[in-house]
Amino acid sequence: MKVAVLGAAGGIGQALSLLLKLNLPAGTDLALYDLAPVTPGVAVDLSHIPTAVKVTGFGKEDLDKALVGADVVMIPAGMPRKPGMDRSDLFNINAGVVKTLAEAIVAQCPKALVGIITNPVNTTVAIAAEVFKKAGTYDPKRLFGVTTLDVIRAETFIAELKGKNPAELIVPVIGGHSGTTILPLLSQVEGVSFTDEEVASLTYRIQNAGTEVVEAKAGGGSATLSMGQAAARFCVSLIKGLQGEKVTEYAYVEGAGEHARFFAQPLVLGKNGVEELLPIGALSAYEQKAMADMLGTLKADITLGEEFVAKA
Ligand code: NAD
Ligand code: LMR
Repeated sequence: MKVAVLGAAGGIGQALSLLLKLNLPAGTDLALYDLAPVTPGVAVDLSHIPTAVKVTGFGKEDLDKALVGADVVMIPAGMPRKPGMDRSDLFNINAGVVKTLAEAIVAQCPKALVGIITNPVNTTVAIAAEVFKKAGTYDPKRLFGVTTLDVIRAETFIAELKGKNPAELIVPVIGGHSGTTILPLLSQVEGVSFTDEEVASLTYRIQNAGTEVVEAKAGGGSATLSMGQAAARFCVSLIKGLQGEKVTEYAYVEGAGEHARFFAQPLVLGKNGVEELLPIGALSAYEQKAMADMLGTLKADITLGEEFVAKA
């Protein structure tokens, strides 16, 4: 197996690459690509950790070499938020980054499973899909917006509030990855109950957890370490799926289009990426209203990405 990380020298990229060096199956090739001149050094640094994962660094000119033959491509390349910004404020810079990287994937590894971390995820996934579609290589089962961070945050916050072990909680988080489009389904969490006030405050905290980190970092970027963990978990699940294991995760994918063209939902990963889309289950009245209220925003975010590629 070969995993490529694009944006590997950044805050997420380095944390993710470290966790992949530690957690990928023995024999995996890990290719690190970034525009930053430090990238080969990051690879040398990681290569001194004694695991059977071979790390290679690729500089600015070597994107094609980093991608050739990749089974999985994880993309945390691009600019993070500063206080006062919304994820959509990153569109002007990150749309072009994702388009360029998606074009290189078409040329070098069109069958790879691709996990997009770059914000605004609601839009950048649509950009990658449209680039792949234009090239005739699009397979919706192989393209994912990584929303695992929303799930692990929800599990952590609920465990803190209710005195539970977060490892024993499963919290569905559906929709998209910004503001109100992030919809935790607290009514489906087994073994705990919430007052209406708790539902409102937990939902708000989960939806604004990214901003909580951006403000705490005070201009120094957004979540990198928790995101590195979330992305590593998702990437390892993709690899397990490719190796024939059935793994359930949440991700932002093009599904049946019942709610929006792309929608974060539960799914089973397997040898071809998405093996099965799972139903989102019954929503409480609170969740139904929250979903109805946010779908317009989510759909507009998606259209922005589709139009960006159409106009290019
Ligand atoms: P960072 O600035 O620390 O790192 C970004 C890296 O991308 C840099 O090393 C930069 O050189 C590299 N880069 C830029 N353009 C590139 C290109 N064309 N090819 C290859 N590399 C390129 O930022 P970060 O904190 O790691 O965040 C990266 C992205 O992830 C941001 O857009 C951020 O908003 C997003 N993010 C998403 C989630 C999520 O849940 N999906 C969570 C946190 C952050
Ligand atoms: C997050 O949820 O932490 C990321 O999307 C980064 C951000 O800008 O909030």
